[in-house]
Amino acid sequence: MRWSKPKNRYMADPILEVRNLTKRFGDFTAVQDLTFEVEPEEVFGFLGPNGAGKSTTIKMLCGVLTPTAGQARALGFDLFIEADRVRQQIGYMSQKFSLLDDLTVTENLAYFGQLYGLQGAQLKDAIQQRVRELQLKPLVDLLVAGLSTGEKQRVALASSTLHRPRMLFLDEPTSGVDPLRRRLFWEAMDDLVKGGMTILVTTHNLGEADQCDRLAFIMAGRLMAYGKPRKLKEDLGRQVIEVRTEQFRELQRATREVPGIIASELMGRGVRLSLPAEAQAGPVLAALRQRGFAFEASAPELPSLEDLFIDLVQQSRTSGRGN
Ligand SMILES: Nc1ncnc2c1ncn2[C@@H]1O[C@H](COP(=O)(O)OP(=O)(O)OP(=O)(O)O)[C@@H](O)[C@H]1O
Ligand SMILES: [Mg+2]
Repeated sequence: MRWSKPKNRYMADPILEVRNLTKRFGDFTAVQDLTFEVEPEEVFGFLGPNGAGKSTTIKMLCGVLTPTAGQARALGFDLFIEADRVRQQIGYMSQKFSLLDDLTVTENLAYFGQLYGLQGAQLKDAIQQRVRELQLKPLVDLLVAGLSTGEKQRVALASSTLHRPRMLFLDEPTSGVDPLRRRLFWEAMDDLVKGGMTILVTTHNLGEADQCDRLAFIMAGRLMAYGKPRKLKEDLGRQVIEVRTEQFRELQRATREVPGIIASELMGRGVRLSLPAEAQAGPVLAALRQRGFAFEASAPELPSLEDLFIDLVQQSRTSGRGN
């Protein structure tokens, strides 16, 4: 085990190491044997269908839930045994974050700052800095109850980072946020990472997942895929071609008889064809044209994270482990 390895926290050791993490609620196993590492100053994405165990994992790592089994080491300390020594270095924005509706933005920040042990001038400075960085100035004196979802999310991000944690856990921070504010939120996260923070973030948005340095896909509590987005796509061993035609349903049916097509799926008014990564697309498209179809085909490209996601869900269904 790597636990015994001598540690220098300032070298490129993982900032978080999770080993065989497991959580059972009665007979139900929500998280099973999860093992992964997060590198310093990366944005690590956590993906998976509803109920996969993402929030449960984060809650264990933030000390909100007690694990049934497994270990985790963060910033050189055992997260479950030496929790007190790391707590100050960890920030957590929960999926159902709870700001205090009847307080103003500043009052909320002061309240959460105090929970993290900040006081006096230190607290005031931290609030000013976060207000500036997250462009909250116009909101400071407003009651949280009246803010939009995107504004609340920014205030919640500010409140979970007032103490400048080195490791930040964000559980679906951008759900319900419009594309522009989503982008601004990711820019704010980027700034935090440039300032030395490491972020573990869950999302259902595969565009966001694509921006992560590395990803973990979990399904039914198990780790199904893990690595850089590009590598995960390459590992699927396929290329994808989008075919546009009026006869998309007929063409999709016909693909079953064309050799060299691994899979085909209807997508809008087109068909998404998967071929082996090394295959030539020409003969396959020619075979479809010979069957009387007229269509436009995109250039072959790497599969998307959506392809990977669908693949994994289908795999877990066939193995009877889907959720
Ligand atoms: N306190 C609890 N008691 C019993 N079961 C629970 C408890 N908390 C979570 N679960 C179950 O554990 C599973 C994982 O839940 P979790 O909230 O971790 O999923 P998730 O991946 O975060 O899903 P989502 O994408 O919907 O947020 C679910 O089936 C959930 O019902
Ligand atoms: Mg969740």
